[in-house]
Amino acid sequence: MTHNPDLPTGSKGPLAEGETELSLTNRQGHPITDNQNIRTVGSRGPATLENYHFIEKISHFDRERIPERVVHGRGAGAHGYFEAYGKVGDEPIAKYTRAKLFQEKGKRTPVFVRFSTVIHGIHSPETLRDPRGFATKFYTEDGNWDLVGNNLKIFFIRDAMKFPDMVHAFKPDPVTNLQDMGRFFDFIANTPEATHMITFLFSPWGIPANYRQMQGSGVNTYKWVNAQGEAVLVKYHWEPLQGIRNLTQKEAEEIQGKNFNHATQDLYEAIESGNFPEWELCVQIMSDGDHPELDFDPLDDTKLWPEDKFPFLPVGKMTLNKNPENYFAEVEQAAFGTGVLVDGLDFSDDKMLQGRTFSYSDTQRYRVGTNYLQLPINAPKKHVATNQRDGQMAFYVDIAPGQNPHVNYEPSILGGLQETKREGKPHEPEYNAKLVRAKIDRTNDFAQAGETYRKFEEWEREELIRNLGDGLSVCTPAVREKVIEYLTKADPDYGRRVTEAAKQAAEAKNAGHIGTPAARQGMEIAEELGHK
Ligand code: HEM
Repeated sequence: MTHNPDLPTGSKGPLAEGETELSLTNRQGHPITDNQNIRTVGSRGPATLENYHFIEKISHFDRERIPERVVHGRGAGAHGYFEAYGKVGDEPIAKYTRAKLFQEKGKRTPVFVRFSTVIHGIHSPETLRDPRGFATKFYTEDGNWDLVGNNLKIFFIRDAMKFPDMVHAFKPDPVTNLQDMGRFFDFIANTPEATHMITFLFSPWGIPANYRQMQGSGVNTYKWVNAQGEAVLVKYHWEPLQGIRNLTQKEAEEIQGKNFNHATQDLYEAIESGNFPEWELCVQIMSDGDHPELDFDPLDDTKLWPEDKFPFLPVGKMTLNKNPENYFAEVEQAAFGTGVLVDGLDFSDDKMLQGRTFSYSDTQRYRVGTNYLQLPINAPKKHVATNQRDGQMAFYVDIAPGQNPHVNYEPSILGGLQETKREGKPHEPEYNAKLVRAKIDRTNDFAQAGETYRKFEEWEREELIRNLGDGLSVCTPAVREKVIEYLTKADPDYGRRVTEAAKQAAEAKNAGHIGTPAARQGMEIAEELGHK
């Protein structure tokens, strides 16, 4: 593997007497003459406290871990590039966006991608039923653009307010530390908008075979803005040129019995052997507006935009051709966020997107540190000049050539940084509405779930029914009945088959037995309160 010259490797300088290039030193540059024995009074101890090398070594080791991501803890990453087609479908792309990375045919932009699973920790199996993260950092000439997506094209909820509750319900029980379908479906039973997402998640689409053979999607709705400041709504989709492959529950269990890192290994080995994975980036475009003619709200991320009305238009291709040199520096410390957009790309009013946009950089200031954007993996590959100073682990200041180093504020006439002038009209949407807390009008929670159910091949439907039946079999009757009511509204055949599958799974697990501690305690509390 060749070294990436962009990554600093620590101090460089002349060798001390007796040193060679491979001589071990501590961080202070002191040559290490004994790396095996701590300093002790006599060979049997006790040890003394001035052992600088030992204390530096062990106390650095004690701090080797940073908090893992609160979601998407387990991941694998790779470097590569994005190559623009210079058009969107058959039209000039400048008609819709002025973002520079898309304009010229053949223009290459370096990228870093991190794939992930969502719910479990940093070394959890990669075979679990879970959405997969697909986050891409484009190091564009205008600064970084992060497209933080998943493999599935929709999501469980449509309002950011619900996200912490959803994640709590899906993560392990705070008492037992076990993931618990009784809790999972308790949340779903109270979240009818999740019906479409669980239809995908419990089908084979909930376990992609690996990271190379899965799709990606921005899920939320963004905007594209052209030179006149006019906007359209846009959704992003990555289509794998390796094809798509998903696993049945049984196939996943067989892989997991032998290798719980199979997806990381598959990605690493493919790239090492020169079999570089590729994805085509496609967009769906809709005019900016509410679209009352549709039976769903275009900003509702629990919905697909029908492809016959809003076709997938290719705009470029991404190739991943280089593995990280250091997992921690590049993959673990990588920080993506939905707020990281470049000129020509904008937010929509999608309520999830707005909530996400606060959350990512907030968590990264805690998880990685105040100066997380100074790290090579997160820093843009272009001119950066801020008046930000100090903070934990600041290891340089942005002093531009010719800048007066005494001036770390703006405005100034003493030679400080100045605002940049930009061409291109700003996009300035107008708002005139009451400030409220309210659901969207067109919730339509079940129709698309039914369409997706009917579109599946029969083997996919069978898997879905078996997996949902199995999960629901450990729930309380109240939770199970509510979820089945939603499935029945999506398609009566769907509801009927899952009812039967849940009954069979419950019988196989010992009839009448409520399977999880949360469900059992929930039943007792409901009885005391006189509920069903
Ligand atoms: C990671 C919050 C919804 C995709 C994260 C992280 C947070 C978060 C706090 C950890 C980031 C880090 O430590 O660097 C939220 C909130 C959401 C939301 C508050 C809803 C309001 C979504 C949705 C998607 C998504 C809808 C899919 C489009 C991802 C991905 C990562 C991630 C791919 C991992 C990024 C990486 O590889 O570092 N999210 N998320 N999230 N989220 Fe979300």
